[in-house]
Amino acid sequence: MAENPKLSTENYKGVRDFYPPDMALQKHLWSAMREVAERFGYAEYSASLLEPAELYEVKSGEEIVNEQMYVFTDRGDRRVALRPEMTPTVARMVAAKKRDLSFPLRWYSIANMFRYERPQRGRLREHWQLNADLFGAPGPDAEVEIISLAYRIMQRFGAREEDFTIYINDRESLRETLTGILKSADLLPQALRLLDKKEKITKEEFDREWEKLSERPWEASEEPSERISGLIDALATLGIRNVRYNPELVRGFDYYTGTVFEVFDTDPKNARSLFGGGRYDRLLEMFGQESVPAVGFGMGDVTMRDFLETHSLLPEYRSPTHLFICTVEPTFSLAAQELAQRLRDAGISVAVNLSDRKIGDQIKTADKQRIPFVLCLGENELRDRRYAVKNLSTGEETQLDEGSLPAFVSGHTNN
Ligand code: HAM
Repeated sequence: MAENPKLSTENYKGVRDFYPPDMALQKHLWSAMREVAERFGYAEYSASLLEPAELYEVKSGEEIVNEQMYVFTDRGDRRVALRPEMTPTVARMVAAKKRDLSFPLRWYSIANMFRYERPQRGRLREHWQLNADLFGAPGPDAEVEIISLAYRIMQRFGAREEDFTIYINDRESLRETLTGILKSADLLPQALRLLDKKEKITKEEFDREWEKLSERPWEASEEPSERISGLIDALATLGIRNVRYNPELVRGFDYYTGTVFEVFDTDPKNARSLFGGGRYDRLLEMFGQESVPAVGFGMGDVTMRDFLETHSLLPEYRSPTHLFICTVEPTFSLAAQELAQRLRDAGISVAVNLSDRKIGDQIKTADKQRIPFVLCLGENELRDRRYAVKNLSTGEETQLDEGSLPAFVSGHTNN
């Protein structure tokens, strides 16, 4: 037999392993997102990670398709993509069942996406994204609802209104302004792309590129369109006051047709985009169908974690296990399993010592795993069926019988 190779334990560049504390945090993010989305009447859907590559090639935009998409050819010579975003998938699903669905349709999903990007703060090659989308509502009240949903998720995470700003713009009026000043109308996609990266390049670079597209200097329109100012007022009525007009906000995708919005962290330590979305009323046309108006957003876990960390809003990790049973003698192992099972049946999560280490070391193991309570099973406990339950964070011990133990332990852990 060949000698064992020494494989690296490092994971693929730009993706993450989720050890239990990381996974607990993911679950915290997902459950908050899910809870608020469902409160707003959104129903969860899902789909495969694999899609035909052409799904993105029509309307997503050059950067995603040419630079960031993971594409491979399968054994049947089909070009397959790992989804870089959810919008084309959800549009496909809606288009496929359009006749059977009743609109307006409120859908959400929490799924992983892959983009071949240079890994850096806030940007990885795999991330998870909440997508919330509303189909079949053309009016500005749909934007009001979608932005409110985004806002309430931020609030559910503990964010205050001064912690983030929601920038909005109208792609339609931006398009009109640009068309009026460009050398030719077919330069529009290039102009949008240039504006999209304006913040990331120097003024000289911007001006140099702009000159190729227009003979007039770029001047952002100071007044928002009626739709945008109406939206800002409506959101203010709902108590959402951190919404600002940003005439240079583009968002990268070609499919956006109207309102676009992007949420930014206001803390200078994390002055970056957290998530965004917009209206895409014509995306379903790529399936040869009459379109359905749509608006939605994608909220990523990586940027959200950075935000929560910056604002000290990350919850402390706690093990999902409530109680660890230590055994004074290895021969008590079966009795410990029996006790554990009775307690599990009573509704708490219990793990049992399987080592022959000393009691002190057993307790240390439980503590390291952040299990909040331990009890030690010895002769006296087996005889009297009373247990000294120790709270590992306070050191406090409480004498309990089996019947009162589950309520005591779960009452102190909220898991
Ligand atoms: P997006 O702005 O490309 O929009 O992505 C949405 C969010 O996903 C970003 O703001 C960020 O939180 C996260 N995200 C994107 N790429 C990465 C990455 N490489 N690493 C970490 N996080 C990332 C869309 O994808 C649209 N499809 C959203 C949408 C839904 N529009 C309408 N409905």
